[in-house]
Amino acid sequence: MPTPLYDLLKTLAGRDLLRLDMPGHHGRPLPYDLPWPAELDYTENGLSGDLFGDGWDAIARAEELWAERFGFDSCLFLTGGSTQGVHAGLALLAGAGSHIALDRGAHRSAYNALALLDLTPHYLSRPWLEQEGVAGPIDPNQVAKLLDDRPEIKIVCITSPTYYGVLSDIPAIAAVCHAHGARLMVDGAHGAHLPFLGYTDYSAADAVVMSAHKALPAPGQTALLFANGSSLDDLRRVGIIYGTSSPSYVMMAALDLVRDYMEREGAAKYRATVRAISALRGKYLALTDRSGLVLDPARLTLLCGDGFALADRLRAQGCLSELSDRGHVVFICTCADGPEQVARLDKLLAAEDWSSPAKCPPPPGLPPVALTPRKALFAPRKTVALGASEGCISAGQIAPYPPGVPVVAPGEVITKKTLAYLREIGYNKKLVDVICP
Ligand SMILES: Cc1ncc(COP(=O)(O)O)c(C=O)c1O
Repeated sequence: MPTPLYDLLKTLAGRDLLRLDMPGHHGRPLPYDLPWPAELDYTENGLSGDLFGDGWDAIARAEELWAERFGFDSCLFLTGGSTQGVHAGLALLAGAGSHIALDRGAHRSAYNALALLDLTPHYLSRPWLEQEGVAGPIDPNQVAKLLDDRPEIKIVCITSPTYYGVLSDIPAIAAVCHAHGARLMVDGAHGAHLPFLGYTDYSAADAVVMSAHKALPAPGQTALLFANGSSLDDLRRVGIIYGTSSPSYVMMAALDLVRDYMEREGAAKYRATVRAISALRGKYLALTDRSGLVLDPARLTLLCGDGFALADRLRAQGCLSELSDRGHVVFICTCADGPEQVARLDKLLAAEDWSSPAKCPPPPGLPPVALTPRKALFAPRKTVALGASEGCISAGQIAPYPPGVPVVAPGEVITKKTLAYLREIGYNKKLVDVICP
């Protein structure tokens, strides 16, 4: 019988690929004892514990160890990625029908949560960093102003780090939120390694989601939801709304093991990767820390003449990046990457021309809103050519990278200005979903 997916994956596994994308294990054996262990694959059987039950068991203890390590009151294991965590976290902190201050650069899971919870978004935009061609950090003063102007907003949701590795000042933003009686949720999907490196303090936030599978050597879909001021039972209540009722015990065991591994040796290995990556940053054109810009030290974002073409050339030589756009190529570098992998990347990059990085223009302002996110997501839709969509109401996100920020969100009108911007940056999608009139 044909097994096309398995055959493809085996063929890829047989190639000597330099994988600098997700999952964070980069295709190397997990650095702890977890081959596919059918003997560890359980369901709730009265002996194995219950992720969403109301008791205290080994799962709850493993979650508690994570919560203690990262400075939170509670932690819930997720087997549906940060997508599940963003949904659950927003359901925890935002009552249905409420107002939310949302990072315009939020992942699509947050936009879908707006629709599912019927939230009214008030967007937080980020400053455009001309020199780097990416969006900068969220300014705490902007959060304060929005909360002053709109006292009905009781939840703020931001992403930190961004795909490009830009970190926002979470303690400062949390202080602003709390002074206004609002709660802060952070989408830290890309930041699960940072507390192990002593780099970022997420614990000032009220809820944080992190994908173990993005930045740690952990299997796909493994993620964590942390909270302060909410109990494990509170997290279970919202986690089950969006999660499978048959969570994988092997994935949960990996979450337990990867924390222990990071504490024993993973953090030290990560620091070695960070040192090697910072040497590459000095050698090629890359995003670097500067006044007002703090970066994830393990994320390598290169500034180049044509990011799409560079990523293609690297792929042809067996090197996989996580993201490419008009002016950047982004690599996820983790503790799974030793000197050999970094040297291989270095050699490939040395053959490239770094003389003229592409100019990335700032995104246009926010378009007019015609429908709520909820009405837009569930309305009848049709697919039309992007070039013929002027004046239509978008049914989905139009989110080119960069800025990695939706230029149009569901329910917003596609304007002439938007289309001109998309042409200017060489946006490569030709079709768009719009609401049927
Ligand atoms: C910022 C951000 N949040 C959430 C997610 C969703 O994470 P997951 O793929 O673990 O569901 C992603 C995925 O890339 C992301 O980039």
